[in-house]
Amino acid sequence: MSSLDPFRYERMAQQHVPEVAALHEVCFEGYYLTRLGPRFLRAMYSWYVENPDAIAQVALDGSGRVAGFMAGTTRAETYHGSLFRERGGALLAALGWRAVSSPVETLRLVWQRKDLARQAVSSVTRGGSQTSTPPTGAADDGPETASLVSIAVEPSLRRSGIGRRLSELFLQKAKQRGCELVALSVREDNLAARRFYESLDWKGAGRSSFAYHGSHSITYEKSTRG
Ligand SMILES: CC(C)(COP(=O)(O)OP(=O)(O)OC[C@H]1O[C@@H](n2cnc3c(N)ncnc32)[C@H](O)[C@@H]1OP(=O)(O)O)[C@@H](O)C(=O)NCCC(=O)NCCS
Repeated sequence: MSSLDPFRYERMAQQHVPEVAALHEVCFEGYYLTRLGPRFLRAMYSWYVENPDAIAQVALDGSGRVAGFMAGTTRAETYHGSLFRERGGALLAALGWRAVSSPVETLRLVWQRKDLARQAVSSVTRGGSQTSTPPTGAADDGPETASLVSIAVEPSLRRSGIGRRLSELFLQKAKQRGCELVALSVREDNLAARRFYESLDWKGAGRSSFAYHGSHSITYEKSTRG
């Protein structure tokens, strides 16, 4: 961290989760996960804090408030399995709460990702006590690829280098865990984020074949070797 950087960066902890979830709601307004509600977001980010395969950091301002965060995993291939096994009960309970106030909208959202909903229910009904599953065979398919799932900065603090620092930290942590590559997906219509990644030399690596909520997504990749 530069001595001029007024923010400090540290591992995301449970105490940061409410602020992280609130910042997610602001920064990803209207996105699928946001529409699942604040309880769902808190359960999800709390998983990042505890899962050993996760990488999650916050940028804190001088008063200790969360100015930005990033979260992802070094095990993209077991991401949903781990999340549902370890937090399935809390995620389903969060959806239940949401369904009390907006039953039709909640059902519609669950139906849109019924594949994942089925996986979540089956993880919970099978017991959910297993820990993270080591990947099988993934290492043989090429370099270990970490997945940067979300990165966000408080709107009034953007363009001050926080996002850049968080992205650098993610690459650094992924490298320390043995990953040679980091990949991420961003909505094609999120031009600000795409300019951000491109300015940091992330390379476009593909475009989804289907549009999700009105937009295709673009995959970017970057080597952790710099
Ligand atoms: C994308 C995001 C994290 C960038 O955070 P940030 O702290 O503003 O980024 P930085 O200040 O480190 O910017 C680094 C460089 O990226 C580029 N950049 C960042 N935002 C940009 C924008 N809106 N338009 C064009 N270029 C941009 C610039 O080159 C910038 O350098 P400069 O300010 O010296 O010109 C932030 O805009 C955000 O939270 N967006 C909403 C959430 C989101 O879409 N996340 C990404 C998808 S997961």
